[in-house]
Amino acid sequence: MSAIKTSVFIATSLDGFIARLDGGLDWLDAANRLVPDGEDCGYRTFIDTVDVLVMGRHSFEKVLGFGAWPYGQLPVVVMSRGGVDIPGELRPTVTSSSQAPGDLLATLRNKGYRHAYIDGGLTIQSFLSAGLVDEIIMTLIPVLLGNGISLFGELQRDIWLEAVETKRYPFGFNQLRYRVNKGGID
Ligand SMILES: NC(=O)c1ccc[n+]([C@@H]2O[C@H](COP(=O)([O-])OP(=O)(O)OC[C@H]3O[C@@H](n4cnc5c(N)ncnc54)[C@H](OP(=O)(O)O)[C@@H]3O)[C@@H](O)[C@H]2O)c1
Repeated sequence: MSAIKTSVFIATSLDGFIARLDGGLDWLDAANRLVPDGEDCGYRTFIDTVDVLVMGRHSFEKVLGFGAWPYGQLPVVVMSRGGVDIPGELRPTVTSSSQAPGDLLATLRNKGYRHAYIDGGLTIQSFLSAGLVDEIIMTLIPVLLGNGISLFGELQRDIWLEAVETKRYPFGFNQLRYRVNKGGID
């Protein structure tokens, strides 16, 4: 059975928040207005390599509020312990799971998926805590929010990463690519 790779591709404020406390993304909308037409900071190239998206319920419900579903035919798994309402028109591609991260990845691997995009703060944290994130691509937006929903959280142990690439965009974004060092360092 071939392995499944897991990647995070996410935008954060310089102080590490992915949304305001109420889930607000107005700061990200404002930042995106600085981006020239046709520039997507590598998103299309990235998403074209992904064959399944795993997201937390909060992120799913936020995306539903956008109106148009942005993921087309890409299979999406919404993580929820309590259950989630999936609108009928999305049921061909969106399913939910209450499995723990490792069990879910085994299920996805058995279905033949090769590259999972992990999205949503608490969801990313649960995969990181379980040592199940291979790569993190973070786009740093030059704004300090002071508080909000954090990308990272508490850990039982340190996680070391290998810096792979840094890109500086002329409109002020910095994109950092890290490989997660599964073995740690001595
Ligand atoms: N800046 C960006 O690029 C970016 C990207 C993605 C999301 N966001 C924003 O981030 C916010 C959401 O992040 P978030 O940290 O609140 O949450 P999230 O990860 O999207 O959703 C959390 C929920 O997912 C479920 N979940 C997470 N880990 C689980 C696990 N191991 N097992 C089972 N279920 C699990 C739980 O649902 P139940 O409560 O149903 O059990 C949990 O309450 C939204 O505002 C979204 O717009 C921003």
